[in-house]
Amino acid sequence: KTYNVGYLIGSLARESINRKLANALFKLAPEQLKFKEIPFADLPLYSYDYDADFPQVGRDFKQAIEASDAILIVTPEYNRSIPGALKNALDWASRPWGKNSFAHIPSGVIGTSPGAIGTAVGQQHLRSILGFLNSPQMNSPEAYIQFKDGMINDAGEIADAGTAKFLTGYMKEFHEFIARVQTVLPRGA
Ligand code: FNR
Repeated sequence: KTYNVGYLIGSLARESINRKLANALFKLAPEQLKFKEIPFADLPLYSYDYDADFPQVGRDFKQAIEASDAILIVTPEYNRSIPGALKNALDWASRPWGKNSFAHIPSGVIGTSPGAIGTAVGQQHLRSILGFLNSPQMNSPEAYIQFKDGMINDAGEIADAGTAKFLTGYMKEFHEFIARVQTVLPRGA
């Protein structure tokens, strides 16, 4: 059985190290996982004034989340939290009230930073938001990846053997987690 994983890259930067990490992760993932980016850069800043006449860009974003078997969020930590653009996207996903697109959609979070704690604080904020959005989260393994020069080679692969092994395990666990959630929360239910 294959699973469609929608992914969100928390950074809008062209040379985002989190996008590089995401692309390297997909190469290590079980073949049953099919990845598709859910972009959010074109969403306006959310306000509930939009709820009465929800724009197409917001509808498309919500629909892409709802059509996914799981969501993987690969994000930097900005100022010890998540980037504003990502928070804005999550706010869009959560509304209008009663139409929260994340409800019952399993999720995983991961991120990288040059700093020693590798997005740990930002990820805790993200987990709090996803909890409120009623998304079952993979609790463990956690993955706080300190980005170092050469960690990802020119071919876009994880060059460091220890990191590659750890991340392969992370994706294997994510696959098993998605399958486990679907036994109790079949998609479409
Ligand atoms: C950062 N950075 C950063 N790093 C970190 O480990 N903890 C933090 O709180 C912050 N805060 C922060 C705020 C803002 C506004 C910026 C632009 C950057 C540094 C950050 O980890 C670095 O720029 C990474 O390259 C960000 O990942 P992306 O955007 O390249 O994927």
